[in-house]
Amino acid sequence: MAATSGISVVRVRRAVEEDAAALAALAVQLGYPCEPREAEERLLALLPPTDHAVFVAETPEGAIAGWLHVSLSRLIESPLRAEVNGLIVDGTKRSLGAGKQMLEVAERWARERGCQNVNLRSNVLRERAHAFYLREGYEHYKTQKAFRKKL
Ligand SMILES: CC(C)(COP(=O)(O)OP(=O)(O)OC[C@H]1O[C@@H](n2cnc3c(N)ncnc32)[C@H](O)[C@@H]1OP(=O)(O)O)[C@@H](O)C(=O)NCCC(=O)NCCS
Repeated sequence: MAATSGISVVRVRRAVEEDAAALAALAVQLGYPCEPREAEERLLALLPPTDHAVFVAETPEGAIAGWLHVSLSRLIESPLRAEVNGLIVDGTKRSLGAGKQMLEVAERWARERGCQNVNLRSNVLRERAHAFYLREGYEHYKTQKAFRKKL
């Protein structure tokens, strides 16, 4: 799957079951403890071509440089939009264009499904990621508090 720009040192493709261990290792880098078995179970639930897509950036040597999870948000109050739920590039493979290429593929996926916007949320601490998103044409339009309840 060719991206429209960026340095083409990686190829972006759909994730497959065999990528689960690499996805888990990168999730840990992102700050989310994740066992390979857990990543495999979660990935398998996302693989059917429904409202979710998981893409990976693969180096010419076959290593997984990063992954991106995008989904459709079906809301009452807003037109159909896409949400980037997770994005990580390996710490040793950053600034090579992998993040940009995966975003472009996700945006095309969203456009093809009729989305008018791509949204994403990013922890206030991730200042370098914020610079990356602004450079890629995203606008900082809202700041929120995140709540949760243990069930
Ligand atoms: C943000 C991220 C996905 C960008 O991926 P990438 O492949 O490095 O992006 P690109 O090569 O297309 O663009 C590089 C730009 O991203 C930005 N960037 C953000 N975090 C960076 C990091 N830790 N190291 C290097 N560049 C980073 C810089 O602006 C950089 O520009 P530069 O190369 O001119 O310095 C990646 O840096 C990353 O995984 N960061 C840690 C996890 C994270 O914050 N994920 C986003 C969660 S919302």
